[in-house]
This record gives sequence, structure tokens and C-alpha cells, in this order.
Amino acid sequence: MCGIIGYVGYRRAAAVGMNCLRRLEYRGYDSCGAAVITNGSITVKKGIGKIDELNAALHLDALPGHTGIFHTRWATHGGVTVENAHPHCDEEEQFSIVHNGIIENYVQLKERLIAQGHIFSSSTDTEVIVHLIAQYYTGNLREAVLRALHDIEGSYALGVIAVNHPTTLIAARHESPLIVGVGDHEFFIASDIPALGSETKKIIIMENKEVVELTPESAEFFSLDGKKITKNHQVVEWDAQSAEKGGFDHFMLKEIFEQPRAVEDAIANRIEDSCITLREELPGLDISSIKRIIIVACGTSWHAGLIAEFMLEELARIPTEVEYASEFRYRNPIIDRGTLVLAISQSGETADTLAALREAKKRGANVLGIVNVIGSSIARESDFVLFTHAGPEIGVASTKAFTSQLAVLYLLTVYLGEVKKVLPIDQIRNRIRDIRALPLQMQRVLHLNADIQEIAKKYVKKTNALYLGRGINYPIALEGALKLKEVSYIHAEGYPAAEMKHGPIALIDEHMPVFVVATQDDQTYKKVMSNIEEVKARHGEVIAIATTGDEEIGKKADVVIRVPKNSYILSPLLSIIPLQLLSYHVAVLRGCDVDRPRNLAKAVCVE
Ligand code: AGP
Repeated sequence: MCGIIGYVGYRRAAAVGMNCLRRLEYRGYDSCGAAVITNGSITVKKGIGKIDELNAALHLDALPGHTGIFHTRWATHGGVTVENAHPHCDEEEQFSIVHNGIIENYVQLKERLIAQGHIFSSSTDTEVIVHLIAQYYTGNLREAVLRALHDIEGSYALGVIAVNHPTTLIAARHESPLIVGVGDHEFFIASDIPALGSETKKIIIMENKEVVELTPESAEFFSLDGKKITKNHQVVEWDAQSAEKGGFDHFMLKEIFEQPRAVEDAIANRIEDSCITLREELPGLDISSIKRIIIVACGTSWHAGLIAEFMLEELARIPTEVEYASEFRYRNPIIDRGTLVLAISQSGETADTLAALREAKKRGANVLGIVNVIGSSIARESDFVLFTHAGPEIGVASTKAFTSQLAVLYLLTVYLGEVKKVLPIDQIRNRIRDIRALPLQMQRVLHLNADIQEIAKKYVKKTNALYLGRGINYPIALEGALKLKEVSYIHAEGYPAAEMKHGPIALIDEHMPVFVVATQDDQTYKKVMSNIEEVKARHGEVIAIATTGDEEIGKKADVVIRVPKNSYILSPLLSIIPLQLLSYHVAVLRGCDVDRPRNLAKAVCVE
């Protein structure tokens, strides 16, 4: 998954474009490049590495010209090489393109184009598009692009410039996200809204199979068959600063500390003293017909789904199952009219989750999206959507999006329990009281940051770690392990605590730190204490996440990090914070690029 920017206007395109591109770097950072129209020719500069490093070496933002395209890459087809970096040109260097997506039929197209005499300079799928455009060009750039798009199969968000059209930028979208930014005598294209930061708040969201022709004074939209279409712009709410670091060393730390506010924003205007007011956001959802819920998601969002399963079955008494989106879509799932599918996604662009959503709809299910990015594909294709309102999450490791997902899923659960009359009014009031108490309690956990930074020093050199939890704490063990491995590259595994004796216990020795999520609850706390003793008996080191006031656990665990007591169902929003902070500090101490971990991307828009 990559990030693309385009600019046409009166300013220096490269200065504007590179500034916007920096805000897209979380989408991919193997390599980057720029192409501008200068004095009747195309100038391309590109290389391997991150944007700031490359810009310091190649002075990309100093390139002259008022029309340009810019790209930061997460390699899908073709290795990380200068040749494979975007932008790509035809062999005559009359056209240049940047692209995010996958061209499924690029091999056949490439063979055909080579047979027709085209000379390729990369092993990417993208390059076939620019050669097709060159082949079809007879004077009208938009028509050449439309003809090329008819030949390709797959996903694309692309920007095209041409020597013969120095004040024109053509863009097109199918499956990969793309927006148009509207300025004064200037237009932008970008892979997502935060990229346009301080440039403009007026945006136009492109739909699938749409093409736009931009000049400094005009924006004309077309369908793939060349018919003009009308589009309306919208004004984005959040300010550019919210996408900046705000004094923190990394976006990940900022977003960890934004969690109390994110939960407040997730519940704002959705609760009253004795009821959850979601009705207006779910118009037409027939709750009485819901007999079963299937949750589809990936990664951290899938962990949120596992916790939602506990919530929905405990409070709303609705049978719930959680599926990896990538598995669900190929499993011939059993869907009937009583099935509600929840699609959970921070970005709203994860290809597997989007495909699972489409599969569910095709089989007759209603789909409710739990999404953070407004205007994203999953938000727009869901029958109903509840936004998490966490604000832009730039760090690749998901933190505030996770806890705001849990907050929204909790409100949905209580709302369903209320409408289905399985939750009495006093329980509803108590559940609302519990979540209202959460932001302050989360703030208290964040005050442990310095202590956790100290604890992190012990694990910087570790090569493995085990995370254990029971019940609702098992998904937190999984999420804690995911956080550690994705930002520090230490192998970490989450496991149900009871399962440890069925194999993983063989791993325990004095070198293996074992993080145990042991917040107090009625049924499993004593069992978890036994698991801690089993680890200690094999010289393992135990770091426990426990409830404030629990003096018992300190007699057994080597390190105890305590979080305030809330309900069992809401305890994950507290117990995850120490594990997020621990992963962050271990990664920083190991010199890892916390906001842009190797091989990862913020939104995985490819299958
Ligand atoms: C989580 O820290 C990872 N960045 C990743 O697992 C992520 O949760 C997953 O790719 C799903 O993304 P989404 O929520 O945007 O769909």
C-alpha cells in the first residue's frame, strides 16, 4: 500500500507535494519520488529510503514547475530498488504516473506491450499503465487515460502528468482511496485526507471508476465511459495540528496519550444518564431481527472484535462469532437475514475487511461498520456506520483507534441490550456510569509512563516474550504481543493462560519474560494466579498487569503494574495501556522507527 500526491496550480509543485507526501509516509516508506513538468519536459527524481533522508540527498522539494506527482512506496510487485520506485515514465518520457494498488493482469499487458516495442525500466505492475497511456495518446490526455483504464484489471489510485499538457493533472480511482483537494487556483490529489493538512479543508471524495481532469482553474469528473459527472465537495472538520506530533517524540506516544480524549469523543453525544442514543446513527436497523452477529476485521481491529464478542454475549445475549476477514471471505460463510455483520476498521480501507464486507452483503447480511476514517471505503459501503471519532491515527501501531473501537462497541452492546430488553434500566445506568469513569481512569494509567519506561529497560535485549490472559484478558494478551512485535521486532506471542501447560510452558526459562494480564474478576483470577506460579516454578520472569488494591499478586509476580478497577467488560481499555507504553519504550530503546516499523503500512489496501 502506498501514498500518492498530485498538485497543479501556481505554486512550486514540488514544495507543496513533498510537504503533503510527508503526511502519507505511514502508508509506506520503502522508497519515494517526484516528477514535475519543467520547460517542456518531465523531471523525475526518486530513490530508496524515507522521505526526509531522500529529500536531503536529492532536494526533491526544490524541483521547479507548477505541476507534479509524488509517491511514497510500500512494495507489492517488484523489490525495493530505485528502478521500481515511483513515478514511472514511458520510454519517451512524455508521460509520468504514480499509483497505489495492484494491476492484476499486468503480466499479460506487459508481454503485449513489449511485443509492440515498448521498453520497460522496472519490474512493477504500475509501469504498464504509463506505456498504455503513451500507446493510446493521440492528443487528448484524458481519453488516453480512459482507454488505458479499460485495459487494466485490479485496483488503482493514480495521478498522471504529460509534457504536452503542462497545466493538467489527471487522476483516477478504483478500490484504492483517493481524494481531490480544492484550493484557490490550485488543486491537489491525495491518498487520504490528513495528507492535505494545512493546504485545504475543501475535499471531494472520488468513487470507484471515476476519473478527474484538473487544471489550476478547473476540476472535471468523468465516469470510465467518458460521461461527465457532477461531484460535490465537503469540508473536513479536524484541524491540521491534530495530525502533527504536538510535542511528543513520536505519533505513537501522542496517540497513546490521546486515548482518554478519544474515548470521550467516542461516547460524546451518544449517552444520557439512562440510555444510549444511537438510534439516529442507525436509521432503519431492525434490531429485533438480529439473531446472530459475525465480526470481521484484521490485526488490532480483530482483537477489538474478540473483546466485543464478550460484550455482546454478556450484555446483549446475542450469539457472536469473530472471524479474520481474510478467512471469512473464502469460507463460504453461512449468512441469513438474522445475521448482522460488524466490520471493524480504523482506516476503513483494509482490503480483506472490505472484501469480507462485500461478501457478507452479497449473501444478504446487513453490515455495520465501526470505522475511524470518515469517507473511507468501508464507511461508505456499510449499510450502517458508527464512527469512532478518534481523529487521525498516524502511528502504524494502532492504539487510540483500538480503545475508541472498544468504547463504541460497548455503547452498541448496551444499546442492543436496551432495545432487546435484556438489560434492565438500573444495569444500563450502571454501565453508563462505568464508561463515563473511564477517561479519568485511563489518565491515571498514563501517569505510570515514567515507571513503565524504567521497566522497559529490562527487556530491550530480549528476543522472545510470552503474553498470557484468560477470558476478556486473552485478547489483550494478543494485542500486547502484537504491539511489541510490530514496533520492536521482538518475537512475542499471546496465549490463553490456561493453554500454556499444553505446550508453550516448554518455552519458559529465565530468558523468557512472561506478561500476564491479571486484572481481578470473579471467575478466573485464582486460575491465573496458578499459571503465574507455574511460570515462576520454571524460573520465568512474570510481569503482571493487575488491579489497584490487589496485594496478593505482588507476592507472586516479579513486576506488577496496577490499573484502576472498572467493570470486567471495560477493564481491557485500561489493561492495554501499560502494554502499549511498554512496547513503545522498548522499541525506542532498541532504536526502532516506532511510527514507521519496517515492512509495515498503516492501511493494508492489498490482499
Ligand atoms: C495494528 O497495530 C496494525 N497496524 C494492524 O494490525 C492493523 O490493526 C490492521 O492492519 C487493521 O487495520 P484497520 O483497522 O485499518 O482495518
